[in-house]
Amino acid sequence: MVISSVLRRILLNSRAAGHRGSVIRMIRRSPGQVLKDVFRNPTTMGVGYRWFGRPLLRFQDSEKAHGRSLSLLRLASSNPISRLALRMMYKPRVSLPVELFGHEYIHPFGLAAGMDKNAKALLGWEATGLSFVEIGGVTMLEQGGNPQPRMFRAPHAQALVNRMGFNNDGSQKIQRSLERHIKRHGRLGIPVWVNLGKSKVTPLDEAHLDYGTTLERLWSYGDVFVINVSSPNTPNLRELQDDEGLTRILHHCLAVNDEQAAYLDAKPKPILVKVAPDMTGEQLVHIAKTAKENGADGIVLSNTTVDRPESPHPRDVSVFDQQGGMSGQPLKERSTAMIRTVRQAIGDGWPIIGVGGIANAQDAWEKIEAGATLLQAYSGFVFEGPSLTKQVVHGLSKRLKSSEHDSIAEVVGRTSG
Ligand SMILES: Cc1cc2nc3c(=O)[nH]c(=O)nc-3n(C[C@H](O)[C@H](O)[C@H](O)COP(=O)(O)O)c2cc1C
Repeated sequence: MVISSVLRRILLNSRAAGHRGSVIRMIRRSPGQVLKDVFRNPTTMGVGYRWFGRPLLRFQDSEKAHGRSLSLLRLASSNPISRLALRMMYKPRVSLPVELFGHEYIHPFGLAAGMDKNAKALLGWEATGLSFVEIGGVTMLEQGGNPQPRMFRAPHAQALVNRMGFNNDGSQKIQRSLERHIKRHGRLGIPVWVNLGKSKVTPLDEAHLDYGTTLERLWSYGDVFVINVSSPNTPNLRELQDDEGLTRILHHCLAVNDEQAAYLDAKPKPILVKVAPDMTGEQLVHIAKTAKENGADGIVLSNTTVDRPESPHPRDVSVFDQQGGMSGQPLKERSTAMIRTVRQAIGDGWPIIGVGGIANAQDAWEKIEAGATLLQAYSGFVFEGPSLTKQVVHGLSKRLKSSEHDSIAEVVGRTSG
């Protein structure tokens, strides 16, 4: 009864007209059926977040809200019963397997870097049904990042601006915490990716040593490593996307990778490069080719942009004026275009990971069609909540069924010729 009346209120107040159909269907059912529907239906879970979670967030500083959500997820995933509840509520119920780098991903959708920099809620991400999680950016040294406030929400544009500046516990502490995690819980059931950043105090010409040290310390705990030379919030970091900087970092990281593999009698791990969207198509192709020729196993497209959309909504202007990188909806088209550009220039033998503005299955499908084998999101989770994974994966599954294709792999790059 209570749930029915809550849902009725949502409906009466609802401006989310697109979701009325499913809510109406629900209030006609018994409370037991309603409860089942709430847990099973990603749309109603999303409406719940939009109507209860998001308004609460509006009253909180963005970074504090983020910290609280992360702590809540960590707490909720700390015992088997609440983990089961998370799984029941959020885990997709369809399978869309994707093979990459010797792993089978349960579906193509994972968590982007920056959300869980210090790997605090690994069990929670797994329980909510993501197919992989990228921790970090981790830097060799622990650092506090830029002064606060440094993270801002633009609700109308569904965008974030951040200038965090690689605040993280540093490679040593994170190594110890991953070691503890594995001792207590075993290895995570989904691949863990590690985003490698550069410590602010390390000069650019020693950047390779900074990335290499973090890689060495975290090698045993990560399944894939991403060299991030594209954060706009560490001074001059993006200069490392040029030939000399990138080549030197890649060669050094590949050497560390081989050493670790030989030492631990294992295979070298995939090393990818993550690049910025603020460049021309030719520059992007040049960087991608340099990365590929120098041993990178794939590319992540893309990091946040320093550009701002023209004529923002008045409510968003003060956020757009903030210095930092923008993510979310305004980045969507550009990151998809980057995926298409790289796919057309390099072909299908070099994996592309698509990230930027994914907020529903359509956004995800477009990135796969453009050439992305796996996808990630950050901002989408802030605006849509944890049910985003289910929405995206169930939506992709429907699209696949109504297409002439049998697997996601067949869709990758379909519109890129
Ligand atoms: C607050 C915040 C912190 C981020 N930190 C990192 C980071 O440490 N390393 C990185 O490669 N990307 C970082 N990103 C970028 C995201 O991983 C992603 O590339 C970008 O947000 C675009 O995806 P989205 O539109 O789904 O948010 C960060 C993004 C945000 C919003």
